[in-house]
Amino acid sequence: MMVRLQKVIAASGVASRRAAETMIKDGHVTVNGKVVRVLGTCIDPSKDHVKIDGRHVQQAEPEVFVLLHKPAGYVTTMNDPQGRPTVADLVPKVKVRVFPVGRLDYDTEGLLLLTNNGKVAQACVHPRYHVPKTYLVKVSGVCTDEEIRNLEDGVALDDGMTAPATVRKSGKAKVNSWLELTIHEGRTHQIKRMLEALGHRVVRIKRIRFGPIELGDLPVGASRFVTDAEANALRAVVHRKAGTRNVRGPVRSSDLQSSRPARDTVPPRVRQTKVPAKRTLSGTGRKARPASGSARPPGRVAKGQGRTRNRKG
Ligand code: URA
Repeated sequence: MMVRLQKVIAASGVASRRAAETMIKDGHVTVNGKVVRVLGTCIDPSKDHVKIDGRHVQQAEPEVFVLLHKPAGYVTTMNDPQGRPTVADLVPKVKVRVFPVGRLDYDTEGLLLLTNNGKVAQACVHPRYHVPKTYLVKVSGVCTDEEIRNLEDGVALDDGMTAPATVRKSGKAKVNSWLELTIHEGRTHQIKRMLEALGHRVVRIKRIRFGPIELGDLPVGASRFVTDAEANALRAVVHRKAGTRNVRGPVRSSDLQSSRPARDTVPPRVRQTKVPAKRTLSGTGRKARPASGSARPPGRVAKGQGRTRNRKG
C-alpha cells in the first residue's frame, strides 16, 4: 500500500506531519538512499527504507480493526489447542497480529471486533467505559413484563447483581420470546445466566451492535475492515471520561458515506469465507441450519455452559 512520505514519518513518531514536510523540503529525507524533496511522494512502507539525516525511520505498525460476523460453531480465539474452528479461520490474513475484543461463546453468533489496538480493546470490554453491547436473544417460554423489568433493573447472579440493562420484546411470543437486550458489562455467559436466573433457557444469541459499530447486513462468516468513521468512533471510546454514559450511537450509513476511506485501513470490502452449512454444535449434537445474513440467528445455541471467568462482551 502506497502512503505519503510525510505521513509515514509522522506515524513513526519522529516528527509532526508539518515538521516532516519541512524536513522533506529541506532535503533531510532519503528513500532507498536517494534524497526526496517532493512533498506528494508516496512510498510503500513495507518495502522502502526511509532515513532522516542518515538515521533509519522505524515504521509504525498500521492499526487494524476488522469486523466479523461470527457464525455459531467457532471459538473466539486465534488458536485453539483442541483444534476446533476458530475466528482466525474467517478473518483476512493481515501482516499485523489482531486479536478478538472480548468473546462470544462458541454457540453465539454476530458482531465480533478484532484489532491490534490494545487500548481500544481494553476500553471496549471494561465496564468502566460503559460500552453498550446489544444482543438479539431467543428464549424458551414467554417473558412476562415483570421479568423484563427484572432484567432491566438487575438480576442476582452468583458473581453479584447485573448492572441496569435495556430490554425490548420483539414480536408477539407464543412459545418462545425474542428479546433485544443491551448490556454494558461483559461477564462470562452473562445473557444466558441472566435469563436462566429467571427460568428461561436461551435458545439463540446474536450480537448486533458493539459500541459504535453495527453488524448491519454483513453475511454470516463474512468480515470487513472498519471505515474511517467507525475507527474514529472506536478510538473515541478510550478518550471518553470513564463512567460517563454518553457513548455515541452506532455509526450510521450517512456517517460512512461522508467518510474518506482510511489510508491505513482498507475500505469496507466484504470478505466472505465459506462457512460449512451444517455444523454440529457443542453439547447438543444438534445441527445448525445453513448460514444466512437474516436478522434472526440461523443457528441454535447449545445448552452447555462452562463457567470460565474470561471477560467477554
Ligand atoms: N452473553 C452470553 O451468554 N453469551 C455470549 O456469547 C455473549 C453474551
